[in-house]
Order: sequence, then structure tokens, then C-alpha cells
Amino acid sequence: MVKLIGVNKINTSVFISGKGTNLKNLIKFSKSNNSPIKINIVISNQKKAYGIKYAKKNKIKIKIINFSKKHEVNQLLKILKFNNIRLICLAGFLKILSKDFIKSFKGKIINIHPSLLPKYKGLNTHERVLENNEKFTGCSVHFVNEKLDGGKIILQKKIKIFKKDDIKSLKKRVLKEEYKLYPKSIIKILSNY
Ligand code: GAR
Repeated sequence: MVKLIGVNKINTSVFISGKGTNLKNLIKFSKSNNSPIKINIVISNQKKAYGIKYAKKNKIKIKIINFSKKHEVNQLLKILKFNNIRLICLAGFLKILSKDFIKSFKGKIINIHPSLLPKYKGLNTHERVLENNEKFTGCSVHFVNEKLDGGKIILQKKIKIFKKDDIKSLKKRVLKEEYKLYPKSIIKILSNY
């Protein structure tokens, strides 16, 4: 693969709500030579989101916005356009984006979800997967459209569920796969950019 130096990388924003371990992983990925992205700005809808510390540590701009007021969202759109953001990665971002917002970044917003979509859209996926005695689970990276967890799938990884698995172990095992799948998916969609 061609080496991408800083200036050639795609300006990217990562949206988070909580722990931010996917953000941490994407920051690490963005710094590697084969990464097509540069993370310019992190958006959190929670001012106490633990993941903000990864942005701070890496001197990445942070904006806290709770997405309930239209003028705030409009201001965010201006910031994203000003920073020439061409890719938005949702990483544990638990707010639903408005149709207008999605339209403004059509085809440029992607999300990671801890299930084998189209199964188990929404929250508490691991609980529901275990309750239903599923034999397999996994994670999916998909384009974001106006339907919840409903956009075109970019890549998925399937894993087997063991008898001894509980919510905690499953979450941990799925997250481990997420850290590989998100960078792979980004490379996949940006390789034709
Ligand atoms: C991840 O498992 C991600 O797939 C999931 O939240 C977790 C965030 O972890 N996202 C969703 O459930 C979105 N519907 P992180 O904050 O440590 O990256």
C-alpha cells in the first residue's frame, strides 16, 4: 500500500458517548503509516465521557455537544465543514443523529455496532443475544442512514459464543474484534477515495 503522509490523510471526526476504547484504538490506527485517516476533532454528547481523555492525551480538538438544540447542531456542522471533515466515525456514540445531519454528510458517516446486523439493532445487544441462546455473535461496521443501525454493511466479524460466556466476557471478546474491524472497514471504504 502507498504510504500516506499527514497532508494526504482524510480529515476525520470521531463521535463518542462513553468509554471510548474504540476511539483510543482509532487514534492509534490513525498514526500508523497505512492509515488513510487523520483524526482532527472528537465530538462527545457527554461532558463526562471517559473517552475524552484519549483525545486530550493526543492533543485532538474536543467539542461537547448534547445534540438536543438545533442551533448547536448547526454550529457543529459549521465546525466540521470548517475543519474539512470528510469522514465521521461513530464509536460508541449513543445519540440518534437527525435526518438533516445525516443528509449533510451523506455516505460519509459510519458506525460500529456490537452484533451481526441486521440482528440485534439498538442497545443491550449482548444481553439479548445471550437470552436468545444464540450460537454466534459478532460486530458490524456500516454506513449510517436515517434508519437505526440500518445502513449498508461494510464489514462484519462473526465469533462463536461459548457456554461459559456472560455479558462481560462477550463484550470483551466482541470489543477485541471491533478494534480490528473498524480500521479494516475504514481502509476498505477509503481505498477508492
Ligand atoms: C462498542 O461495543 C460499540 O460497538 C457499541 O458501544 C461500545 C462502545 O465502546 N456501540 C453501540 O452499541 C452503538 N449502538 P467504547 O466506548 O469503549 O468504544
